[in-house]
Amino acid sequence: MASTVLVGLQWGDEGKGKIIDYMTERSDVVVRFQGGNNAGHTVEIGAEKFVLHLVPSGILREGILNVIGNGVVVNPVALWEEIDALQRRGVAASSRLRLSGRSQLIFAYHCLMDGFREGRLGDRKLGTTRRGIGPAYADKVSRTGIRASAMADAGRMEALFRAQAAEYNAIFRQAGCEVLDVDAEWAKVKAVLPHLVPLLDDTALLVNRAADAGKEILFEGAQGTWLDIDYGTYPYVTSSNTTSGAACTGGGLAPCRIDRVVGVLKAYSTRVGSGPFPTELQDATGDLLRTRGGEYGATTGRPRRCGWFDAVATRYAVMLNGASRVALTKLDVLDSLPVLRICTAYQLDGKTITDMPVDSADLERAVPVYEEMPGWQQDTTGVRSRRALPKAARAYVARLLELSGTKLQIVSVGPKRDQTFTVGR
Ligand code: GDP
Ligand code: IMO
Ligand code: MG
Repeated sequence: MASTVLVGLQWGDEGKGKIIDYMTERSDVVVRFQGGNNAGHTVEIGAEKFVLHLVPSGILREGILNVIGNGVVVNPVALWEEIDALQRRGVAASSRLRLSGRSQLIFAYHCLMDGFREGRLGDRKLGTTRRGIGPAYADKVSRTGIRASAMADAGRMEALFRAQAAEYNAIFRQAGCEVLDVDAEWAKVKAVLPHLVPLLDDTALLVNRAADAGKEILFEGAQGTWLDIDYGTYPYVTSSNTTSGAACTGGGLAPCRIDRVVGVLKAYSTRVGSGPFPTELQDATGDLLRTRGGEYGATTGRPRRCGWFDAVATRYAVMLNGASRVALTKLDVLDSLPVLRICTAYQLDGKTITDMPVDSADLERAVPVYEEMPGWQQDTTGVRSRRALPKAARAYVARLLELSGTKLQIVSVGPKRDQTFTVGR
C-alpha cells in the first residue's frame, strides 16, 4: 500500500477531480491539503455530475475516508452547503468526512476584502475567485486567523468572529465601502456549527494511523503548479503552495512517507484569471478548445483562456513536483484538429530559453517556439487502451511525455468515470 500525491501540473482545472475519483477505486483515504472553495473539481458518473469545492473527490465512493487537512482554508457556511447538497443527492457526505481542527476558517469579511482588493487593482486585478482565499491565508500567516477547532465552543467562536469582523469593518468603513452585517453573518455561522463540529478531528493523527495500518492514501491537490504562491506566475497566483511538498505540511504525513507523485496534465493548456500565459490562443482554435473542452470555470463559470501545450512550463512543473507519472486528460478535445502545436522553448530578448523564467514580467514577454505534429481527426472518446489510440495520437502523447520528462500512468478521453484507462503503474 502506498501514499500518493496528486497535483495539477498547469494552471488548474487539469481534471484532478475526475482522476481522483478514478483512482479511489483502489484507495482508502483522500486528503485535501491546501486551497479552499476556490477549487472546482468535477466528477461525472453516468448521467450524474458533481462539482466539488471543499469536499474531497473521494466522497462519492462508499468506504473512503475523506479528510480536509490543516492546510485548507474552510468557509464553514460554504462547506455545510456543499455537504448538504451532496446529502440531498443521496451521498452520505457527513459520515465519510473529517475536518482538521487546525484548518483556518474563511468568513464573509474575507470574501468582501478579496473583492475590495480586486476592485482597487483595476486593470491589474488578479482575477481571483473572490472566495476570500488570499485574505484568509494572510490572516493565518499574520496569526490573526480563526481555526476550525474554535467552532467546538460556540461562545468562544462568537467572540473571535465578532472581534475579527469588527477589525475588518473598521477598514471597510475607512475605505468607504460595503460593511459586513455582523449579526446576520454570525447567525449564518452559528446555524452551521452543529453540523460541522461533529466532523472536527486531529486529521494528522488520522492520516498517520491510516498509513501505519497500510492503507492507500491519496492527497488531492487543488489549483495547479503555476498558481503556486512561491513557484507560480507571481503575483498572478493563489495564496497557497499547490505543489506536492504542501501535501506534507497541509496533510500531516512526513515527506519520507510519501511514495509517489502523480501529476495531472491536460493535453493542451488553460488558465482562468489574469497573468502570463505564453501559448494562449486568441483565435478560432482557442474558441474551439473552449467549446469542445467545456472550458468554463467550475467555480465561477468564467470562460477559461485556452492555448497549446507548453512543454517548457510542464517540464519545470514535473521537476518541482517530482511527478514521475502523469494522468493525461482531455486528449479527446483535440480529436478534430488537423495540426497540433507544442511549445518547446521561448524566445526572450533575442535568446532561446528552455526553462521557465523566474519573473512573471519576463514570462509575459516570452514568445513561444513551436513544433508541429499532425492531428488524428478521429474520435477517441471510446478508446480504452493505449494501443487503440490513433497512431498520430500515440505520437503526440509520446512527444509530450518525452519533452516533459515523465511517464504515463492514466489517460482520460472524456469527462465520465469510464472514459479512462490505466497504462502503467
Ligand atoms: P479540476 O479542477 O482539475 O478537477 O478540473 P475541473 O473539473 O475544473 O475541469 C475539468 C473539466 O473537464 C470538467 O468539466 C471535467 O468534467 C472535464 N474533463 C475531465 N477529463 C476530461 C477528458 O478527458 N475529456 C473531456 N472532454 N473532459 C474532461
Ligand atoms: P482547481 O482546483 C483554476 C485562480 C483564479 C485566479 C487565481 C487566484 O479547480 O484547479 P484565488 O481565488 O485562489 O485567490 O484566485 O487562481 N484559481 C484557479 N484557477 N483552477 C482552480 O482550482 C483555481 N483556484 C484559483 O482564477 O487566477
Ligand atoms: Mg477546477
